Amino acid sequence: MKQRRCIVLLLLLCMTALTNSWAAPPALVPAPAKMTVAEGTFRLTRETLICAGTGAEAEARTLGVALRTPTGLPLPLKAGEPKAGAIVLQLDRSLEPQLGAEGYRLSVTPARVTICAAAGAGLFYGGVTFRQLLPPQVFATKRVARALDGGWAAPCVEIEDKPRFAWRGLLLDPARHFMPPEFVKKLVDVMALHKLNTLQLHLTDDQGWRIEIKKHPLLTKLGSVRKESPMHGDRKRGDGKRYGPFFYTQRQIRDLVAYAQARHVTLVPEIEMPGHFLAALVAYPHLSCRGGQFEVRTRWGIEPDILCPGNDAALAFVKDVLGEVCDLFPSRFIHIGGDEAPRDRWKSCPKCQARLRAEGLTSEAQLQTWLNRRVEEFLASKGRRLLGWDEILEGGLTPGAAVMSWRGIKGGIAAASAGHDVVMAPTTHCYFDYAQSKAPGEPECIGGFIPLSRVYEFEPVPAELPESKSRHILGAQGTLWSEYMWTPRDVEYFAFPRAAALAEVVWSPAEQKDFAGFERRLQNHLLRLDQLGVNYRKEPAGAGTSGR
Ligand code: ACM
Ligand code: ZN
Repeated sequence: MKQRRCIVLLLLLCMTALTNSWAAPPALVPAPAKMTVAEGTFRLTRETLICAGTGAEAEARTLGVALRTPTGLPLPLKAGEPKAGAIVLQLDRSLEPQLGAEGYRLSVTPARVTICAAAGAGLFYGGVTFRQLLPPQVFATKRVARALDGGWAAPCVEIEDKPRFAWRGLLLDPARHFMPPEFVKKLVDVMALHKLNTLQLHLTDDQGWRIEIKKHPLLTKLGSVRKESPMHGDRKRGDGKRYGPFFYTQRQIRDLVAYAQARHVTLVPEIEMPGHFLAALVAYPHLSCRGGQFEVRTRWGIEPDILCPGNDAALAFVKDVLGEVCDLFPSRFIHIGGDEAPRDRWKSCPKCQARLRAEGLTSEAQLQTWLNRRVEEFLASKGRRLLGWDEILEGGLTPGAAVMSWRGIKGGIAAASAGHDVVMAPTTHCYFDYAQSKAPGEPECIGGFIPLSRVYEFEPVPAELPESKSRHILGAQGTLWSEYMWTPRDVEYFAFPRAAALAEVVWSPAEQKDFAGFERRLQNHLLRLDQLGVNYRKEPAGAGTSGR
């Protein structure tokens, strides 16, 4: 009798444990703004339909492809009236004031999944969240052959979600080490899974010119090759290996832009000027202050020879390049670099000094602003806005400029206080080329130390910024400068899981920040990255993810 009571008690305990495990919130990354979890599940079966309301067809197709690939289920698309056992996508413009273009409502019940949003982006993100509710194998890039325990089931939830910031970015640097188009696509896919929506491509630098410009073909003919690179493990020496030619053709760029657009990722081109410009001077030395012969730089670091703004031909050249760039990239912002431009050559250049006098300028910093002003006007004529690193503040910001704050947040505070838009990418929290851990065995890197917890702690809106100016903080961006990233696998290692932490910083409500909770969810999330074949940094057994 006593034994029977014990068994009943044990059974009851087990049932409670099971119920609790069902009720545990699903491991979504980034965490949604509002979520309630209910009993039960929705199952994908051979009978499941995908129903698209008017205007939702493209997103329904995208979700269909994403689900069909791993599950092998037919999941046919049906227009119009939602049926039971269906995944329903509906556009509802009336949600715009509440949820914006990127927010969504997702309801999962045993009978139906409903995603509602004011625009395609919101439907897409609702779809991403629904996929995260399913087993991690749903992110497999091929059909999953083995039957899953429990099948393709998602827990029942009610979610209302929208991003905290509009700019949720990463920077990729194909200039120092080229990253092939297939990898850019993979990165876009993985970003979309994190609801990151902006990928800045650092297309030009002293060490290589990586974008085809039809009007000036020598840029890629000469500027996309370097004699050698710094040696792996000994950055002061050369490796003796020719590097290149490597660049994106205009056809490849158009293909990448379309691919990213379908995943609601904006590709933002960066064309560096006046500094980090040596690869262009190799092709067209008359654009420099002193002329002569240049070589594509074979060491990392900063080059003294830069663009000569005293030269009218330099301005015409910049407009030619940016004209083609604007034709290729629909991005509203065009990044013109502007960082780390030593202005010493300008001091001894008769053309630069003549320009200074003619324009009534009193410093070389103002001459950089003068150049930016011309570029800004040109971009405005194409309906675009100028974005540059925080050095563009030094000679005075041009009226419409937006600033990417990298030398800490001071530049961002100054720009936003003056009413300029700002993206935060400070070296203190957002430089993903810094080490993730001080443990032995980490790969060579540029220096610095930014563990996962530091990224997660980042608050893009500075406390000292007046409330009325906080709307100028568009968001934040993690940078993947590639001096010490030779291959896509290296980029993935430095990017993840830190980009997952950044995704939560820029998407989820600030009040919900919870690093311990994030770390718990991350354990599940990493299973998704496994399915996608992402070479993220794995914590040695027994260590916390903080990397200390
Ligand atoms: C930069 O890291 N020079 C923007
Ligand atoms: Zn000059």
